[in-house]
Amino acid sequence: MLLAIESSCDETAAAVLSPPSSLLASHIASQVEKHRPYGGVVPELASRNHLILLNPIISQTLKSADIRIDEIQAFSATSGPGLSSSLLMGNTAAKALALASNKPFISVNHIEGHLCSPFMQMEIKPHIALIVSGGHTLLIKVNEFNNYKTLGSTLDDAAGEAFDKVGKMLGLPYPGGPEVEKLAKRGDPERFNFPRSMINRDNSTFSFSGLKTSVLYALNKIQNPDKQILADLCASFQIAVVEILVHKATEAALKENLNTIALSGGVACNNSLRQALRIRCQKYGLELIAVDPKYSTDNAAMIARAAAERFIRKKFSLLSEDVNPNLRI
Ligand code: KG4
Ligand code: ZN
Repeated sequence: MLLAIESSCDETAAAVLSPPSSLLASHIASQVEKHRPYGGVVPELASRNHLILLNPIISQTLKSADIRIDEIQAFSATSGPGLSSSLLMGNTAAKALALASNKPFISVNHIEGHLCSPFMQMEIKPHIALIVSGGHTLLIKVNEFNNYKTLGSTLDDAAGEAFDKVGKMLGLPYPGGPEVEKLAKRGDPERFNFPRSMINRDNSTFSFSGLKTSVLYALNKIQNPDKQILADLCASFQIAVVEILVHKATEAALKENLNTIALSGGVACNNSLRQALRIRCQKYGLELIAVDPKYSTDNAAMIARAAAERFIRKKFSLLSEDVNPNLRI
């Protein structure tokens, strides 16, 4: 039985999992309302709230799993990438529990957590991972757990970051991603022809800042945009992002001779992306394993799933190992 803590950004989360993949409980205390007035995450506020929320969320998770803390065999936490003051809260809590109970500590890379999240209830198999979140846009060739080759990432904004910035530009509440998707449902995706940056390059590199600027230029040309124009901007922006992601992911799978794509990260909540990727995978005879939306945005279940793979391999971490805000996969 493992207890995992996630605190890399503004979600305080805990989960209990029996390795390799039997999840007993997972709880998330979102701080989104606390940060909304500022239009983004305020690091100082996030770490203070982690401190307040950690003990109650751990107790609630143990209660839901119906186990006592002394039944936990290892404690795990995200060690990066993320906000250092936020990472320190969850990481220190897990280390303190490990030290006090003389049990192993397992540090987990947040990106590896997302990478494992589509495989909550199954074995991890060779695949192309498309990880799209607020902080990352990555295509990774996964040979097996802990054997990865990064094929490409973004030169500038992450996909989720672009959604959030476009949302902000259009005056939508934070975080922009889900709001842009909501508005896009009523919009015409062909009204604006936004650039599909890097789509014709034969590589796995992404770029979203040009697309974001194009939305700003289009918005600036319109005087007093009504609801319909805002919806059309959202739909046209969203389809550009989706087409880029779908194209690059399927091209990578074909090039690397892998017949499975796994989709994860907060942007994996987006239904247009899920649907378009499913259709393209069907067309090319590829299998799509899309993360369950409840494990797509930051959560501790995915950290526990990655920790379980390390636990099985006895890959424990030192208590002296520090958090790393810039940790890479
Ligand atoms: O994985 P996550 O919780 O945090 C990071 O590790 O970054 O991802 C959060 C990101 C935010 O940028 C949010 O706007 C985006 O995921 N997101 C979405 C949707 N739901 C969340 N983007 C597009 N459409 C959505 N439905
Ligand atoms: Zn994340």
